[in-house]
Amino acid sequence: MPRNTITILAIETSCDETAVAVVEGSGGLQNPQFRVRSSIVSSQVKLHAPFGGVVPNLAKREHIKNLPIVLERALKEAGIESPEKELDALAVTVGPGLEPALWAGINFTQELAERWQLPMIAANHMEGHLVTPLLRNQKLKIKNQSENAKRIKFPAVALLVSGGHTELILVKNWRDYRVFGETLDDAAGEAFDKVARMLGLGYPGGPEVSRAARTGNRYAFSFPRPMINHKNYNFSFSGLKTAGLYTLRDLKLSKTPFTKNDIAASFEEAIIDVLLLKTMRAVREYRARALIIGGGVAANSRLRHRMRHAIKSEKRARLFLSPLTLTGDNAVMIGAAAYLQDVKNNYTNPKKPGASWKKLKAHATLSL
Ligand code: KG4
Ligand code: ZN
Repeated sequence: MPRNTITILAIETSCDETAVAVVEGSGGLQNPQFRVRSSIVSSQVKLHAPFGGVVPNLAKREHIKNLPIVLERALKEAGIESPEKELDALAVTVGPGLEPALWAGINFTQELAERWQLPMIAANHMEGHLVTPLLRNQKLKIKNQSENAKRIKFPAVALLVSGGHTELILVKNWRDYRVFGETLDDAAGEAFDKVARMLGLGYPGGPEVSRAARTGNRYAFSFPRPMINHKNYNFSFSGLKTAGLYTLRDLKLSKTPFTKNDIAASFEEAIIDVLLLKTMRAVREYRARALIIGGGVAANSRLRHRMRHAIKSEKRARLFLSPLTLTGDNAVMIGAAAYLQDVKNNYTNPKKPGASWKKLKAHATLSL
């Protein structure tokens, strides 16, 4: 184990996954290395599916119920018997996310911090998604340090695409971020979810639309590419849903035979066109040496394929996709983000209870 290794127990409850992980970090901001000792994710998808989206108070109740169970499993898998002696810090997602759900995790972590007398780090969910490429090649229980820490050169451009966010971020270094583009209405994942609902596909919609699209014709319908020619880096996806609704209505009225797969494929292509064009333009404008892609939508196979292809024409930049096992919400990424966040200051005396409640609250409104 490298010297100055920090062992963090991380907790994530910002949406509908109750997740706990034990992550070891070392190497500081210059060469961050991580080892995943355990990662447990308990999904509430089935519970929320009948509502077609996450119900915040229901999510909170489930998190409160699940957290002790998920914690016990994460500690067991990591082989931790005395958390107060073996852990250096606790980390918890404090935003952005669904507020009632976030508080379930924050309150639970606070109780643990008091019980075990450990410092508590307030982590940002989006930073978690952003750092997932640092966790490449992590196979649980296999000591395999990530080599991406050295390969990711700055400046980097990051595209974060999830159910709640669509952001383009200039990464000058780890912890040095500037958001220069975001969605003005729906997030990319939300657009996928809405189209899935419109087509009567399941929830969450992204994977369903992607599955249907595989055998569909991407060019069957020409959906709009919102804001694709705008000079700025913002996105807007809410109009796509309306375009989809009109298309469906016209098809039904004219009794034209159609397949859901064609609509799914054409829709997927429209979203990806916009994401890809704007991202690649940013890569060139900022002379980026790396392109990072993370968040739930980063699981989309067509998006991954087209990004891999597009980056080939960029001489300077290399592509770093979130590993498929870490695109969705998890606590490993929260542990990694927390390590980077506090490595500079708060680990000088890691065993001393640190982050005060006030500090946590200040972080709670932070958004990338
Ligand atoms: O990051 P994430 O797990 O949770 C949030 O922080 O929001 O992202 C969830 C989003 C959902 O909207 C889901 O439909 C979408 O990611 N998603 C996908 C795929 N898998 C998940 N969207 C497109 N294609 C996929 N394969
Ligand atoms: Zn997320």
